Amino acid sequence: MAKIKKSYVCQNCGAVFGRWEGRCPECRQWNCIEESVIPTPGGGYAGAVAEICPMAEVKMHRVERISTGMKEFDRVLGGGLVPGSVVLIGGDPGVGKSTALLQVCCNLRGIKSIYVSGEESLAQIAMRARRLGLPADDVLLISDTEIESICAAASRAAPQVLVIDSIQTMQVAGVSSSPGSVSQVRESAAHLTRFAKKSGIAIFLVGHVTKTGGLAGPRVLEHIIDVVVYLEDTKSRFRIMRAIKNRYGAVNELGVFAMTENGMKEISNPSAIFLSRRQERMSGSAVMVIWEGSRPLLVEIQALVDTSYAEHPRRLTVGLEANRLTMLLAVLHKHGGLVSFDKDVFVNVVGGVKVVETSADLALLLAIVSSMKDSPLPDDLIIFGEVGLAGEIRPVANGQERLREAAKHGFKRAIISQANVPNKAISGLRIDGVNKLSEALEIL
Ligand code: TYD
Ligand code: MG
Repeated sequence: MAKIKKSYVCQNCGAVFGRWEGRCPECRQWNCIEESVIPTPGGGYAGAVAEICPMAEVKMHRVERISTGMKEFDRVLGGGLVPGSVVLIGGDPGVGKSTALLQVCCNLRGIKSIYVSGEESLAQIAMRARRLGLPADDVLLISDTEIESICAAASRAAPQVLVIDSIQTMQVAGVSSSPGSVSQVRESAAHLTRFAKKSGIAIFLVGHVTKTGGLAGPRVLEHIIDVVVYLEDTKSRFRIMRAIKNRYGAVNELGVFAMTENGMKEISNPSAIFLSRRQERMSGSAVMVIWEGSRPLLVEIQALVDTSYAEHPRRLTVGLEANRLTMLLAVLHKHGGLVSFDKDVFVNVVGGVKVVETSADLALLLAIVSSMKDSPLPDDLIIFGEVGLAGEIRPVANGQERLREAAKHGFKRAIISQANVPNKAISGLRIDGVNKLSEALEIL
């Protein structure tokens, strides 16, 4: 018999408590704990014996992945959609999650899919599909928010792919809190995950991201789900899709799309789309090659260094880590002899790209120096390399591929770590290998 248990769940961090409290002991937020009733299966440990199986005897069958019809999407998923898997697509409202998944459903020719919307009416969805000129033959629609009835309908229709748009609108009977609350989101996702595993249906969950950047409430979902993909806005029409967890492939694989009037279009060769095509050379700008998943991406980094009139000079980064900038400015002082304590420093990665790689260090520092001296860097120059605290320039992974990509796009000079200089010359590219920051500054 199922036992009804009352528990109190923090709507901010997802922590569960036995009694109500005014302030969450975990995340220290006030007034965020709500009562929630979650049916727990009864029975104890007695009786049931778990099955044991030697690993060598586990039967493995080759899974046929389902193609989403978009190569960029497949690449982020690790080569297509795995039957029985649950994929969460997170992103800001309006970034294009519904559009992308509707396109996937319609383009799964010969594969039955169900698109469940808790946000839009059937007419709205059908109209959007028609406007985008999508084939509608094998797509079934449901407009509902009850997980149990959706799963029952899906069992009957037996599709291969099910889209739930969005997980925040769904609810499970027996859980008392409102849709969108942590308990509902978590229980709905858990229910759907069990359903996916049992039925072999691949499920896409749409998840809205909150203002603070987390998926509704906490990141509770990420543990339950097989693949977590984020669709990021770039402040332009480009959208970047990135897997941050993938049980079936590599993470950090990146897909690039453009939001057009005809829906999401994949950009199959995105390596240079974020470079501005400028006419004149500007000081404070440098081009680098970052590595995203399994391919290089050329991006421009801009720095503005200006006299500061504030007590504490400003340090501002967009698309880069702020702490790293502070650290690099200290290195620049100590090993390059250039002071910035009396200067505001602003740094921006063009195109809304977020750079987490350390390979941006050297390009960032040289962009800063270029702005300080108001002297533009050559516009056919590419720079990458990690900068250490001792002022040493360290090599980064995939150096050769980065250089080749830069050469392909017409860059003629490179300043990189000496350890990254390839044995064989790359035609059309003059490469300066440096060991120390001071050497790089000398070349300029
Ligand atoms: P949508 O897929 O509804 O976003 P989400 O589900 O992530 O909230 O996309 C909505 C936005 O995309 C909306 O602002 C309009 C724009 N859009 C286009 O530019 N072109 C299109 O073809 C479509 C369908 C939407
Ligand atoms: Mg939507």
